[in-house]
Parts: sequence; C-alpha cells; structure tokens
Amino acid sequence: MSWQEFPKLELHLHLEGAAPPALVRDLAKRRHIDISRAFNQAGGYAFHDFAHFLQVYEAATSVLKTPEDYAALTQAVLDTLDEQGVVYAETFISPDFCGGRDLAAWREYVAAMAEVCQHRAARGGPDLRAIVTCIRHFGPDAAKETALCAAETMGAFVRGFGMGGNETMGRQGDFAWAFDCAREAGLGLTTHAGEFGGPASVREAVEKLGVRRIGHGVRAIEDPALVDLLAEREIFLEICPGSNLRLGLYPNLRAHPVERLRAAGVKFSISTDDPPFFGTTMVQEYQALEQIFDWDAGLFGEINAMALAAAFCDGHTNANLTKRLKQADALAGDG
Ligand code: ADE
Ligand code: ZN
Repeated sequence: MSWQEFPKLELHLHLEGAAPPALVRDLAKRRHIDISRAFNQAGGYAFHDFAHFLQVYEAATSVLKTPEDYAALTQAVLDTLDEQGVVYAETFISPDFCGGRDLAAWREYVAAMAEVCQHRAARGGPDLRAIVTCIRHFGPDAAKETALCAAETMGAFVRGFGMGGNETMGRQGDFAWAFDCAREAGLGLTTHAGEFGGPASVREAVEKLGVRRIGHGVRAIEDPALVDLLAEREIFLEICPGSNLRLGLYPNLRAHPVERLRAAGVKFSISTDDPPFFGTTMVQEYQALEQIFDWDAGLFGEINAMALAAAFCDGHTNANLTKRLKQADALAGDG
C-alpha cells in the first residue's frame, strides 16, 4: 500500500535538517558562500559519520541568514509535509542559528516562520508547530540563553523546548537550568537521548531533566529495566528508524529495536529527523515498517493516537486533529 494518503503526524523534524539541497545550494550561490564540500556528486548532502553529519548540517545552515530565508525554508518544508500526507508536525528551530541567541532578532525569525504556518494552515495545509532547541555541543551557558528566548516566545507557534546536537559531549544534567526555565514558561520538553549516548543518557534525561518525551531513545533497549520504566511512566519516544540506519546505529530495519520497544508497551511515533540528509521520507518510513514488521493501518492508527497524546499543541488544535484523523479512519482507540 502507498501510505501517502494516510494522515500522519511527525513529532521529530529539524527544520534546517529538512532543507531541500537545491534551496541551500541556491542561497549559497546568491550569498557567494562556498559550501560545495557539503554535497556529493549527485547533489545530495555528503557526510561519513555522526560528527561529520553535524558539521555538514551547520555548514548548510550557515547560508540561512535572514527571517525571509527561514520563511522560504518553512514554505519548502510545508510543501514536503503536504506531499507526504503529514497533517501535523513539530519542528526543531534554534536561536543559535536564527540571530545568534539575540532575543530581538529571534522574535523576527519566529514571526516570519509563524506567519507562513498560519497562512498555509488557513488554506488547509499541514499544521506546523515549533520546538526551540539548544545545541548540546554549544554548552550549558548557550543553552540558558536559548531557553530564555524560547520562554519569551512561547505561544501558539512555539510550543516546546528541547536539545539536539552531539550527545557524546557533556551530560543531560548539565542542562537542567535551561529545561527548568522552559518548564516554568509552560513549554513541553524533549531531549535527544539514547541515540549516540547509551541507556544511561535516557535515564538521566528522565531523572535530571524531567522530560516525558525523548528524541530517539532507542538505545534504551540495551537496559530491560529502563524499557519497563519507560513503559510504566509512559515516557514517549520520537523514533526515527531511517535516521538511525543512515547514521549506522543498526545495520538494517529488522535489527532496529522499534518493534521490540512497541511490543514492550513503550509509547512512540515515527519521524524522519533530517529527511534529505538521510535519504528518507515519511512515506518511505511507513512502507519499510509495513514490509519488515507487517505493520498495518490499525497499528499506524495506534501510532497516531500515541502521537496526538504526546503532541505539544494546544487543546483546540488537538481536538481538530482528532476529528480529522477519525474521519479518515486513521485513529485507533477512543481518540
Ligand atoms: N541535529 C539534527 N539532527 C540530529 C540528530 N539526529 N541528533 C542530534 N542532533 C541533531
Ligand atoms: Zn533529531
């Protein structure tokens, strides 16, 4: 089956990581910035491991210089979400890349992105909300400034706070101040953990940062007691199988823990992370899960229900999505 028509929710998507290579190349040319090394001969993004991926990601991001650039990027990402049948997405954006953590500049970037989203949603396009992320390898002091920017712009568009970047640097607990600040502002919380850090990183995220959502989290599978804890406490995982395969965590989808985590009762949904970097799309992720694990529309309807329960959007948006998914027979349970 093609999963294009099936309405999908995507809760783990980096905005710059979803930038079509052509858009980045075009901006680089106009700005006379040489980032040719970020691309392979076929015109796709080129990297050989996680650390290099982060470098290429930052090189690509360096050509996005103004709120208008981010408005254009948001349009392009909404186009792809629409093509892929994604009706609701949460995307990671960062004041580190948008204005260098200057609050006045950050407000302009947020306004530009939010306006594009409102305009598209009013015409039946996908609903897009933002999770402001600090970048782990930029350190805890930068994260504090990022959290303050997030807190100041919390509203209809900015719904959450999170952390991406290099999980092998520092510890989750080093960022507790930033997460406390965001929590006090009423933002939903998530952090990348259990991707390049092991199960201890997932446990620390839950215990030290108090998050109830984790980006990836798949390496929790290495600690059965932790898997039980995630299931019992209903800690939700934003699982991105294609990303994990492309970055070399697992040799193939059959070896990926997503099915074992599901069977253990862990709540989760499926996302693409940085789709053009990893050569994936939401439809491809669904097709692969159907092919390898026999997942069907009933199961994807359960995934939609789990995603809706974990989404950071307001109650009104959530109720509208619930209605839309029910009408399309794409929501399992009471919804
Ligand atoms: N930033 C963009 N993609 C990321 C990933 N997969 N892990 C950590 N930080 C990221
Ligand atoms: Zn990610």
